[in-house]
Amino acid sequence: MPLENLEIPKEVQDAKMRFGIIGNAPTLIEAVKRAIKVSPIDLSVLITGESGSGKEFFPKIIHAYSSRKHQKYIAVNCGAIPEGTIDSELFGHIQGAFTGATSARKGYFEEADGGTIFLDEVGELPLPTQARLLRVLESGEYLKVGSSTVSKTNVRIVAATNVNMEKAVAEGKFREDLYYRLSTVQITIPPLRNRGKDISLLARKFARDFQEKNRTAPISFDDSATRAIEAYRWPGNVRQIKNVIDQIALFHAGETISEATLTKYLPHMPSYVPTVAKEQEHSYESERELLFSMLVRLQQEITSLREQMGNGAASDPNGIEKRGITKSLQSSCSHKTKTAYDSFINIDNEADEYQRREIIDTIATPTTLEANERELIRQSLERNNGSRKNTAKELNISERTLYRKIREFELE
Ligand SMILES: Nc1ncnc2c1ncn2[C@@H]1O[C@H](COP(=O)(O)OP(=O)(O)O)[C@@H](O)[C@H]1O
Ligand SMILES: [Mg+2]
Repeated sequence: MPLENLEIPKEVQDAKMRFGIIGNAPTLIEAVKRAIKVSPIDLSVLITGESGSGKEFFPKIIHAYSSRKHQKYIAVNCGAIPEGTIDSELFGHIQGAFTGATSARKGYFEEADGGTIFLDEVGELPLPTQARLLRVLESGEYLKVGSSTVSKTNVRIVAATNVNMEKAVAEGKFREDLYYRLSTVQITIPPLRNRGKDISLLARKFARDFQEKNRTAPISFDDSATRAIEAYRWPGNVRQIKNVIDQIALFHAGETISEATLTKYLPHMPSYVPTVAKEQEHSYESERELLFSMLVRLQQEITSLREQMGNGAASDPNGIEKRGITKSLQSSCSHKTKTAYDSFINIDNEADEYQRREIIDTIATPTTLEANERELIRQSLERNNGSRKNTAKELNISERTLYRKIREFELE
């Protein structure tokens, strides 16, 4: 009997339903099973998996199925907190601990006492914070910033990472003792590309979600498209497939999607494919690679958008959105693309999803990779009114990486 047909236990079905997890791939089911199994036992758990693979469901499952479920659950993105404030955020500080500390502040470890803390992007923690974390893990003890009095807390820690922790340890970026401590139990989330039929299942699900939410005409996929969806590498995993399907559901509402249509929305990352394939576990480890792939994707997006403009979309009676876009793009054409995109954004609530397209405008003729990277970041910062948080989110890099890039490229 093929693995896919093995029966899925009821408790796993329930957890999938409760958290909206789609898919039946044995590796995914195994991950859910492990999360449920470990939940009542107070061990630290490390969730590993590529970016966009769905890691965030798992600490929630672990908390919800543990005896801590009525206590607090706090999720902390370790990559998003500046190095200077992370200790104070996690462990709190006393009044006068540093300039500006006019009052005492509770840290997450105090707030979550009795509950669970999810440390996302744990590989990004600075070394001094790693030392404090190790102490909490070992003894439940910690010092608030500026205090010499030991505080106690009882917190379950679930951490997640998309970087290769062994490598981070070998490079001296992550403490080995902490790594072992955090990863008492490991749960590996499989990359989307290895989930067989789940891939097209997710595509159909996201298409349905889009159509229900935006009341657009349904799309369907022909056999060639389904095969292509299941064969593609999906380097950005579930996050990427959702993004791609959203675009197709918008621009091709009411159509049967063929492989030819689908591939217009897929980046191919020409020379980067072999490198990525070699390092399966962390295909996005190199930011450069990530930015490069984004660049390629954005360029493909604009190509396909331009093609659509020439495809008589205006005559499509269903395509209200399409008509709007066509009108705005036709009226401004290529050298005024930016204005066109602005109107484009104004006509659609899903603006965020599409704002990235704007970037293409000035990167249509790439010079060097570095120049492009700088430009990509500069524009994203501008679009987000200088908000580093939103910029990092948009570029799918950690805030700390963004800070470094801003300094490196002198973008302040
Ligand atoms: N199996 C799945 N079924 C449904 N949605 C999923 C699945 N896996 C991931 N997602 C969705 O994909 C997006 C990315 O997942 P997330 O957990 O944030 O990824 P990660 O933390 O691994 O980068 C989220 O919107 C999430 O809800
Ligand atoms: Mg995440």
